[in-house]
Amino acid sequence: MYHPSVPNYVRITDVSPRDGLQNEPGTVPTADKLALIGHLVAAGVDEVEATSFVSSKWIPQLADAPQLVERLAYLWSSGEAEGAPEPWPELAASDLPCEFSALVPNQEGLSAFVAANINPLAPDIAGGPLGKASIFTAASETFARKNTNASIAETIARFEPVVSAAHQRSLVVRGYISCAIACPFEGPTAPEKVAEAAIALSELGVDELDLADTIGVATPDQIELMLAAVLDVIGDEWLEASPEGYAPGLTLHLHDTQGRAAACIKRALEVGVRSFDSAVAGIGGCPYASTPSMRAPGNIATELLVKTIREAGFESSIDLDRLAIAAAFARSIVERARVGAASVGGGGAARGSGQR
Ligand code: HMG
Ligand code: MG
Repeated sequence: MYHPSVPNYVRITDVSPRDGLQNEPGTVPTADKLALIGHLVAAGVDEVEATSFVSSKWIPQLADAPQLVERLAYLWSSGEAEGAPEPWPELAASDLPCEFSALVPNQEGLSAFVAANINPLAPDIAGGPLGKASIFTAASETFARKNTNASIAETIARFEPVVSAAHQRSLVVRGYISCAIACPFEGPTAPEKVAEAAIALSELGVDELDLADTIGVATPDQIELMLAAVLDVIGDEWLEASPEGYAPGLTLHLHDTQGRAAACIKRALEVGVRSFDSAVAGIGGCPYASTPSMRAPGNIATELLVKTIREAGFESSIDLDRLAIAAAFARSIVERARVGAASVGGGGAARGSGQR
């Protein structure tokens, strides 16, 4: 949980069940995904990005999003502890101090999100475990086209009805901006392009912005420049918690190809960012950010993020022993999926995955 009252508290969203698993050559069984989510909750992350309601032709690895969320809803509502994957029986008895979110690229995705996100104990009156819908665009035209088959302007137009429908259902809306530092196809991104996308998303009414170094090449100086350009146009208040106090308005999402993500986090903390994404065990990557010579890199590991936060004198809710269990579990399911994919000659390949 975000603790606005705890000085120096830093919020952590673990995106491994979504970003971590979407780029794997094999598909992880739904029960293992749920167990991973449970381990992350037990480790004390503030939020888990559980899955994506995108086209299964584009991301076959997450085609089970509706089933996963329906099952998560049972576990979350304590309605079905028996037979639940570990560590859920231990968690189901307590209130979960963790929020859940999922990606949606369009209205079709939001409809599927809403249909699955039902509290089985109160199906008529309350939503389910997912409290946040995350839309995504980019600061690079080529990447937007490759990732969503649309220009940046077309993605923004697509999001208009999504944001208003999500708000009508009291969902928080996060807006990602990919390629905030560089694009795998176009090279370095001008900070002004990121600022333009940030204005467009803030005008749409998103509650949070998430600035992503999709290919993990940022230096601390580039992070500072990019943040300055964005904050200049949207205002420093985005660094603070929303009026409802649930979370800071600005998050940083760093992949870690060059091993500089920790240094970038330290610089972002100096600038005032108090919310970061990461993936346990550093798994992940966007398949549409891969090029013929480089597979898309994983997110900064949650373990490294926590270490970095602590070294910089900040706090999180993480239990390091439980996080180590979550990391070992994540590695084991990814390894199993890779072995499974290799034995059937490739497994769930995403559309366009000739690039992988
Ligand atoms: P499209 O092919 O232009 O879509 O894809 P369409 O509207 O023409 O529909 C084509 C088919 O997809 C239709 O089915 C639709 O029903 C179906 P058919 O008639 O052919 O059987 N469809 C859907 N099915 C399920 N859920 C949906 C949905 N929408 C359409 N929501 C689309 C456009 C946006 C759908 C596609 O490009 C897509 O799904 N892209 C997602 C790619 C993706 O998930 N990338 C990874 C996540 S983003 C990321 O990793 C970056 C991030 O981590 C930050 C960072 O690091 O940069 C967030
Ligand atoms: Mg990512």
